[in-house]
Amino acid sequence: MVYFDNNATTPIDPQVAERMDAFMRDQFGNPSSLYPIGRQAKDSLTEAREHVAQALGAGKGDIYFTGSGTEADNQAILGVLDALPDKPEIVVSAIEHPAILETAAYCERKGIQVTYVPVDRLGSIDLGVLRDAVTPRTALVSIMHANNEIGTIQPIPLVAEIAHEKGALVHTDAVQSFGKIDVDVNVLGVDLLTVSSHKIYGPKGVGALYVRKGTPLQPFVHGGHQERGLRAGTENTIGIVGFGEAARILPERMKRDKPRLTALAARLRAGLEARVPKIRLNGHPENRVPTTLSYGILGLEAEAILLGLATKGICISTGSACSEDSDEVSHVLKAIGLRPEFARSTIRMSLGRFNTDADVDTALDVIPGMIEKLRRISAWEPEEMPS
Ligand SMILES: Cc1ncc(COP(=O)(O)O)c(C=O)c1O
Repeated sequence: MVYFDNNATTPIDPQVAERMDAFMRDQFGNPSSLYPIGRQAKDSLTEAREHVAQALGAGKGDIYFTGSGTEADNQAILGVLDALPDKPEIVVSAIEHPAILETAAYCERKGIQVTYVPVDRLGSIDLGVLRDAVTPRTALVSIMHANNEIGTIQPIPLVAEIAHEKGALVHTDAVQSFGKIDVDVNVLGVDLLTVSSHKIYGPKGVGALYVRKGTPLQPFVHGGHQERGLRAGTENTIGIVGFGEAARILPERMKRDKPRLTALAARLRAGLEARVPKIRLNGHPENRVPTTLSYGILGLEAEAILLGLATKGICISTGSACSEDSDEVSHVLKAIGLRPEFARSTIRMSLGRFNTDADVDTALDVIPGMIEKLRRISAWEPEEMPS
């Protein structure tokens, strides 16, 4: 199998699996219990928190574990709005993940004013519109760090500067940048930041929210006093320990993998562009996560390519895995102004830690031929590339 869908989820690193396995066998205590096995479980949570904090350049007291990246995004928006009732406005970008956009839509239904900042054809947000959108009544600006579909990276330090000038708090969804490019909360200058374990070779169902000290935030899951009162519910100790291990080994792995994967993705890109006529890369040419490759394959439905490649053991996704089960054109591709036929023909390949040179060789052997065959079957006539 060639797995080119690492933006959807990543395989668990064997070292993470080993750590989880050992923990699961030895430790079952409730971290809230005061006897030794409870204490040990609590110590393991503290250790995991330190690892996640360190990977983000944060203090361990600034990390709160959640049940997913989605939950951390919800917590950031709903928690800030709840803490600042005098500021009933938020600002988000038009290309956020549904974890943000659907939460924003929910807020709108509850009477909050939401401004959606547009992006240009490369997927970069319009900083001028952002500047005008933030008012003294804005509680939070939430702009994602890297986009899951097209890989464009947003200028978060500038976003933070603009928002802070006007007294608003800043959140970034760093689910797709953490583990792929450098993510440091102080360099980014944000007050809140979301990460997710299953995108960095850890288990699914665990996320974390970084909260800068002093940031006004109310809980939205109510109950016990876990996570220092921010997130009630007995902790997912096994998942958190796995997330901690994934974060612990991340900096060293990134040092090794980043140049290798950048070169691998560049070879895939060059090979495809040389061998497949009429394809176009979406997203920013430079300000991008290099391992996210989103291509419009003119003349074909992306789903036909996905299913064809699946028969050859190559896993890719259409525009975005998150919208895979709906016929609607991706909101991200719409926002960058793609014509519907280009959007519907868009496939996404995302490389990760376990991809090899052999994977790229296989992809370059199979994909151009598959596209040519499908275009022949559909009697596609090459036409001018639409702008
Ligand atoms: C940018 C972004 N934010 C949030 C999420 C949601 O994270 P989780 O799957 O942990 O809920 C994803 C998942 O694909 C994502 O890509």
